Amino acid sequence: MELERDTLEILPAALRTLEQGFASLPAIDAPAPGRVRMAEVMQQVAVRLRDNYPYFHPFYAGQMLKPPHPIARAAYALATWINPNNHALDGGRASSAMEKEAVAEIAAMLTWQTHLGHLSSGGTMANLEALWVAGQLHPGKMIAASTQAHYTHHRISSVLGLPFTEVPCDPRGRMDTQALAARLARGDIGCVVATLGTTGTGAIDPLPEILRLRAQHGFRLHVDAAYGGYFTLAGNLTEETRAAFEQIGQADSIVVDPHKHGLQPYGCGCVLFRDPSVGALYKHDSPYTYFTSSELHLGEISLECSRPGASAVALWATQKLLPLVRGGEFAKGLEAGREAAVSLAERLAADSRWLVPFPPELDIVVWAPRAESARLVSELSQRIFTAAANRGLHLALVRLPVSHFPSLEKPPRSIGALPLADSPGGQDTVLCLRSVLMKPEHREWVKQIMVILDAAHCDAEKEYKS
Ligand SMILES: Cc1ncc(COP(=O)(O)O)c(C=O)c1O
Repeated sequence: MELERDTLEILPAALRTLEQGFASLPAIDAPAPGRVRMAEVMQQVAVRLRDNYPYFHPFYAGQMLKPPHPIARAAYALATWINPNNHALDGGRASSAMEKEAVAEIAAMLTWQTHLGHLSSGGTMANLEALWVAGQLHPGKMIAASTQAHYTHHRISSVLGLPFTEVPCDPRGRMDTQALAARLARGDIGCVVATLGTTGTGAIDPLPEILRLRAQHGFRLHVDAAYGGYFTLAGNLTEETRAAFEQIGQADSIVVDPHKHGLQPYGCGCVLFRDPSVGALYKHDSPYTYFTSSELHLGEISLECSRPGASAVALWATQKLLPLVRGGEFAKGLEAGREAAVSLAERLAADSRWLVPFPPELDIVVWAPRAESARLVSELSQRIFTAAANRGLHLALVRLPVSHFPSLEKPPRSIGALPLADSPGGQDTVLCLRSVLMKPEHREWVKQIMVILDAAHCDAEKEYKS
């Protein structure tokens, strides 16, 4: 196969146009960059970069990794000739304006006509800002997130010195709202984090019920949609999943990561606040950075200081080409990945060798080989994961509560005459296979993925028996 080359075709003309903007400057008599030596080093770089999984190929169906769109790659590269810094207007006038426009488009996708928001290095920093604001508004109160929320929430809370509590999940990996209600009754929760698209399984926390609880208890609601946010545009969600996205605009803050499903290179996260007045919390005095404008700089509404203007330029260009609208080309790409996930889950569920604990809500599928105990399932999952990789298909693994698999909850103490090493109560978790079908091309590759999975299952069984 060949790697994408459109980027190289469109870059030179754009570079000439950029250059014309600075035509009046006297030429710089810079030393020649030593092109031969640079080419040699670039060869070394290319060789080093071969040591990677093929994230850009449909046979990489493991973690959340998606290639950037060629326009994002080209726009990012072009911006590096200027290398703007979106910390302040002085550092990146054009790219700051582009960031504000691109972020406003994300806010509009989430139904907000007014907002406060900016890009960040990724989902972790974006969530940190949202929880920092929550902590300022509800000092000393707890942050609550589900057991399937990204581990970053617990860690961020500890960085911010905020107490944290975990809310159990239902058998489909979504926040259990009865458990949340019981927890809220103690009156010490200041912010609930609802995840729309959990990292492990792509589960959607039941936002409508969480909003009903907010009306009763008055907590701040943060939605971590770092992974799932763009699915608000997808036309092929189930009714239940769609209902959560319909209400996303009711949140107090939302995180969406353009570097996950927004076709952007790393690192590009985005945090948004419904009430722009939280900007006052960021107020600080800086005697040195801002001197050319009385406007609010991005650096004045963000905890990070220097940030790549190139990220904003790439995002702006991508959204110009592929607007964030339902039924548009961008939305169709998300729908294709979701179709791939539904199709893979259905094929697996129809095959008696596999267990599918629940259908995918987005484009992440989890499943496991059928076996008699959690321990055997886990062992086989690990072997199939390796066997598939040996055959060129790259999956991921996820450890799930055994309660997701009713047939495994009371594992036998022995298989035939073979005693099991499990503890008498069996294991609490089971290792499963996981596949994130993020690329639109995955839809056409499901059959081939199934062929490799079949073969990997046989390989793993043979190996286990030998
Ligand atoms: C739901 C969710 N939140 C937060 C994060 C952290 O984002 P990042 O890795 O961009 O810092 C992730 C990463 O996978 C995620 O899936």
